[in-house]
Amino acid sequence: MIYYANWKLNKTSKEVGEFFDVFNNFTTKDKVCFFVSSTLLDVAKGYSKYYIGAQNVCYEKFCAETGELSIAQALRLGAMSVLVGHSERRIKFAETDEVINKKLQLCASKIECVLCVGETLSEIAQKQEVVARQLKTALVGINPEFYRNIIIAYEPVWAIGSGNTPTSKEIEETVVFIKNFLFDNYNCNFKVIYGGSVNASNVGEFKKIVNLDGFLIGGASLDARGFQVLITA
Ligand code: PGA
Repeated sequence: MIYYANWKLNKTSKEVGEFFDVFNNFTTKDKVCFFVSSTLLDVAKGYSKYYIGAQNVCYEKFCAETGELSIAQALRLGAMSVLVGHSERRIKFAETDEVINKKLQLCASKIECVLCVGETLSEIAQKQEVVARQLKTALVGINPEFYRNIIIAYEPVWAIGSGNTPTSKEIEETVVFIKNFLFDNYNCNFKVIYGGSVNASNVGEFKKIVNLDGFLIGGASLDARGFQVLITA
C-alpha cells in the first residue's frame, strides 16, 4: 500500500520537526510520502526518513507567475512527488483540466505525479463521465513512457474533509472503472488510490478493496501517532 499525506497549509517548521521526531521511529514496508507546503519542503526533507512531495507546481517551467513554485525549485528542495489537480486547486484556484494537463506534460517526465480526479456532490449521477473526462484531458500528449510516473487519486470532492465517504463497494466500482478505462485507452496498468475522509476507523475496511493501491489522507495524517495507527490498522 502507498500512503500519501496531504498536509495542506498545516504545520510550522518547528511542528514538522516534532512530527518527525515521533514518526521516524515508525518503520513500515509501505511507501509513505508527505505533501507539505512549499516553504516546508526542505525542512521536511531534512527531518523525514520518508518521501516528501509538493502540493502543487506551476504549469510552466519558468514564467512571470508571482507566488508559484516551479518544478525545478520543487526538485531542488527534495520533492519526490507532486500533487496535480487536487480539487481544492481545481475549485478554489480555478484550475481547468487544460491547466492540469499542462502540469502533467511538464512534470511526468521528471517526477512522480499524483493526479487527483473525482466528482462533486452534484455530479454523483455522472461520476464515471466526470472522472473519464478528467483523466482523458489530463493525459493528452503525455509520452506513454512516463505513464508509470503517474498515480491516480480518486477523491470524490464531497468526501474531502467532510467525514462522509462512499461505501467500500462504491469505491471499488470506481477504482475498477478507472483502471479499466486507463488500460483500454492507454494500455497501461495505472496505480489508483482513494482519498476523502480516510481515518484510522474506516481505513481497515477500505484496505480490503481489491485493486486499491493506497490512500491520500488529509486531516488524519497530521498527528504522528494517529497516522501510524492508520497505516498499521
Ligand atoms: P481529508 O483530505 O482526508 O481530510 O478528507 C483529503 C485530501 O484533501 O486529499
